Amino acid sequence: MVLEWLSDDGWIVLERNIDRDKLRFQETIFTLGNGYVGSRGVLEEGYRQGYPGTYITGVYDSGGQLPEIVNAPNPVVVEIYVDGRKLSLDEMGVIEHRRILDMKRAVLYRRTLFVDGEKRYKYRSSRFLSLREQHLGVMSFSLEALDCDASVTVKCVVDGTTRNEIQAVGDPVRHYTVMQTYGMGRDPLYLAARTDASGIVIGLASLTEAHNTGGSCECQIKSHGDENCVFREFSFQARRGKRYSFTRYFSVYTSRDTQRNIHTSCLAEVMRARERGAAQLLRRHTRCWRHRWRYSDVAIDGDPAIRQAVRFNLYHLLIAASPEDMDVSLPAKALSGEWYKGHVFWDTEIYMFPFFMYTQPKIARNLLLYRYRRLEQARHNASMQGYKGTLFPWESADTGEEVTPMLWRGPDGKIIKVHTKPMQHHIVGDISWAVSMYYMVTGDIRFMLDYGAEVIFESARFWASRVNYDEDTALYHIPEVTGPDEYHKGVDDSFYTNYLARWNLLYAASLYREFLGSHPRYIKKLGDKMNLPCSEVDAWQQVGGSIKLGIQDSGLIEEFQGYFDKGNDVITQRNASGMPVYSKDEDKLQHTQLVKQADVILLLHLFPGDFSRKTREINFAYYDARTTHLSSLSPSIYAILAAELGDISKAYNYFHYVACGDLDDYFGNTDLGIHAASLGGVWQAAIHGFAGVKLVCDRLYINPKLPEKWRMVKFNLLWRGNTLRVCLSNDKVEILLGSRKKQLELPACIYGKRIQLQANKLLTVVK
Ligand code: BGC
Repeated sequence: MVLEWLSDDGWIVLERNIDRDKLRFQETIFTLGNGYVGSRGVLEEGYRQGYPGTYITGVYDSGGQLPEIVNAPNPVVVEIYVDGRKLSLDEMGVIEHRRILDMKRAVLYRRTLFVDGEKRYKYRSSRFLSLREQHLGVMSFSLEALDCDASVTVKCVVDGTTRNEIQAVGDPVRHYTVMQTYGMGRDPLYLAARTDASGIVIGLASLTEAHNTGGSCECQIKSHGDENCVFREFSFQARRGKRYSFTRYFSVYTSRDTQRNIHTSCLAEVMRARERGAAQLLRRHTRCWRHRWRYSDVAIDGDPAIRQAVRFNLYHLLIAASPEDMDVSLPAKALSGEWYKGHVFWDTEIYMFPFFMYTQPKIARNLLLYRYRRLEQARHNASMQGYKGTLFPWESADTGEEVTPMLWRGPDGKIIKVHTKPMQHHIVGDISWAVSMYYMVTGDIRFMLDYGAEVIFESARFWASRVNYDEDTALYHIPEVTGPDEYHKGVDDSFYTNYLARWNLLYAASLYREFLGSHPRYIKKLGDKMNLPCSEVDAWQQVGGSIKLGIQDSGLIEEFQGYFDKGNDVITQRNASGMPVYSKDEDKLQHTQLVKQADVILLLHLFPGDFSRKTREINFAYYDARTTHLSSLSPSIYAILAAELGDISKAYNYFHYVACGDLDDYFGNTDLGIHAASLGGVWQAAIHGFAGVKLVCDRLYINPKLPEKWRMVKFNLLWRGNTLRVCLSNDKVEILLGSRKKQLELPACIYGKRIQLQANKLLTVVK
């Protein structure tokens, strides 16, 4: 275990020493964020081995390459010098060190005892990115010279030298040019930069207050800057044993999010913050977090390490998602790193989205709006590849253009060609699936009428143009795609892709008819906009009903046409965490039946009502023996199916691996950023897997299959604006449907018993 976790209430992650080789890993773990800014958990004094990363949501730049999320100037640098020597592991020893991430309040605390010869210096700090004041960060820090008086200089820096150094292919890039640095007298420091290609202006202000340094005459304040950085220095004589404290407020605005003068906005923010004071700001921030967790927490009783790990996963999802609509989505590393260039993949809709849909539906809606607003570009992407309708990009950044790189660095470090762009078309069905789920779970008809239906219809139009008709079999085929299993590229009739396409076409046709009945004027308007005749809708129905599905009489599904002809390799060895051991040579893997990640099994999970138990069993057994789980997107899905089918020990194994995947660095590259899809997979495995909660055709199913040591699981879900408070164990489910609508009912099926949930009546069902 790399990090220790306090096991009291499961809200804390603790670090006990500074290990320079692990700095980047720990920075990812301790990332702070409020959905607007993500700031890696760097040690304030800065180390060569570390990687300061500050990411502002939606701020991308290409700088001569493909667009990537910009590593913005870093406002959290604090250097302290005592008698000319820096408080840093590079110049002093460390006797004691603790960092605590308080996940309940999203605050990072630190205490480090430095030693220089015989002299000890105690440094303490805390910082947070305010959830209430989204453009504001607050830091408090203090210094105490324990053994002597000392001459001290505290230097607060806004560092405009940061670059995007983590490149899979290509050189480091600095994506912005500093336009202005300012820091006269006691005015706040200010730095403005402009991104080179996208032209976004980023402004940062910093205001530091010194407490008990003995008044202005004894504390000398100096400000200066160069073309890239601004500094403020506080120099004073520290008395032995006296604690000197500082509060630093910093603010960030960009031309992407404000029409107002950025300089004025930044300055006003830190001045307002100073008036409020750090304590009040923390209270406001904490209140917002309390509200967030009220609907999002999953409290597991009986397994302290997992209880904490699950919260850690949810914490990282929550810090990446803005409560405001900022026309952004969630990158594959959230806002904790720049690997995958901050691009948005299907990871968002299939893995992260369900958590938000059930617990923070406004955020879920914003995630879908991000896609909707790029529909025009997606239409263009489709036509560029010779199709109709909409083709969402496999990788998306700011504009919705396809930004998948041509080359990438594979797991073994080799540079490989990327084939996903022209083939991984299941993204279209993935997004439609998320829209349909959102409609079912939230009942947000306004959204469907204004945006959702258009996405569904345009996607159906895409599939209708993507299929080929085979007269001999009278079936439609989808040639040359890559499904989730990326070992097998450019295959025909991928079951995952075909099934989604089929569903998308049929769903579009039925939605059209539903709205034709309930909202005819609206359908007419949309039909005119899309130039959509009824005959085209009929064709969707016809094509959807005749798409080739490779499923045998036994129920065994062939992942794609010809899959069963590949080498019948199976996993024969597993490591201590129960994960497969196999040769990673992709050139060979493509000729075998080994599968990179959940593919057929993911499909079974996405459509829980569509396949019999026997089909699920037979396919789980087959693909579990052949899946390598190279992608962190995979094990959570196998955990869900295993739990549902009653193999709790297997389910727990997979679940443990992903729940602790980042904390214990099981994936081996957490230093590059958090595995955001996996975070969402963990929530789904807890709720849909172990707690056995599913909403199928407007009926709520609950069938808990908890690991033995889990005594109880408590969580809330939101359903159509009402709350479902659930507390369950293996033999008892307590559920309260909280609603303002007194007559509201929800059909449920708990432990196989059909029941009607009634508003505001606590229901207890014993197995
Ligand atoms: C996975 C994809 C995923 C991407 C970004 C790849 O390794 O195979 O499914 O979208 O990583 O997380």
